[in-house]
Amino acid sequence: SLAGVDLLAEINRLRKERNAVILAHYYQKPEIQDLADFVGDSLELSRKAAATDADVIVFSGVRFMAETAKILSPDKIVVLPDMDAGCSLEDSCPPDQFKAFREAHPDHIALTYINCSTEVKALSDIIVTSSSAEKILAQIPPEQKIIFGPDKNLGGYLARKTGRDLLLWPGVCIVHEAFSETELMKLKIEHPDAPIAAHPECPPYILDHADYVGSTSGILDYSKTMEGDMLIVATEPHIIHQMEKAVPEKTFIGAPGADGNCNCNVCPYMALNTLEKIYLCLRDLEPRIEIEEGLRLEAKKSLDRMLELAS
Ligand code: 13P
Ligand code: SF4
Repeated sequence: SLAGVDLLAEINRLRKERNAVILAHYYQKPEIQDLADFVGDSLELSRKAAATDADVIVFSGVRFMAETAKILSPDKIVVLPDMDAGCSLEDSCPPDQFKAFREAHPDHIALTYINCSTEVKALSDIIVTSSSAEKILAQIPPEQKIIFGPDKNLGGYLARKTGRDLLLWPGVCIVHEAFSETELMKLKIEHPDAPIAAHPECPPYILDHADYVGSTSGILDYSKTMEGDMLIVATEPHIIHQMEKAVPEKTFIGAPGADGNCNCNVCPYMALNTLEKIYLCLRDLEPRIEIEEGLRLEAKKSLDRMLELAS
């Protein structure tokens, strides 16, 4: 039993002993964000994982992020506090079906959101994150036909924003799908001066009301630079922790789901990670991410393209 273990003290002792770096996504619980060596969006976390000189990467996020770290840093031990930390976007895109889709459209390249399995990355030409997608898309010749998966909301947003015709895979994030337009409008009537910042994984009927659309890091930057003292945040609400730390004088309200509050928009996969599990994976160096070398090299090609084109 872990009763009586001073988890923070033990995590701090073990991270030094193991020469470990703790990387956390903005959707992690506040106590995890606060102990991490680095907190960031998907692109920043990939860059950190690729550049670290630590021996161990503790990835406090979801499995596709930890797999990305392993693909880019194969010589490191990469541990994920809970192997069940998946992602609904990954689940919505089984590799065999994605492969068949590609084969049915041989004249298209596959531009693929990083929220997918290693197998789907290996079947893709270029990976994007929400912060890099527009910049990368702008570098693809206009006549090139493109499949975009697995997030139809991000893909639809990119298509509307750039005027390009993208062939969309029909995946969604269950967290961002849970926002209610009706409840958001009620909140807006209560706080007419508060702008709305939204993640592009939101459906179009939410994005249509947004004053700012961007990745988690983009939304965080917006919260610091925007005028006014209140912001409505349409993404996973744990990011509000960083906003409250950065600009404590402003008020941040999580956009509501159908029940009128933002609790249904907590990512259930991200929420699996706890201090206890971080301690255990530092202690045991398990559970570890392992990827077969041929598959890793295939997936690395599309990730390297992303890092190149996003820089
Ligand atoms: P970003 O942090 O890249 O905006 O991604 C959000 C997300 O849903 C991660 O799963
Ligand atoms: Fe996946 Fe959505 Fe959770 Fe991000 S918030 S990890 S996209 S389920």
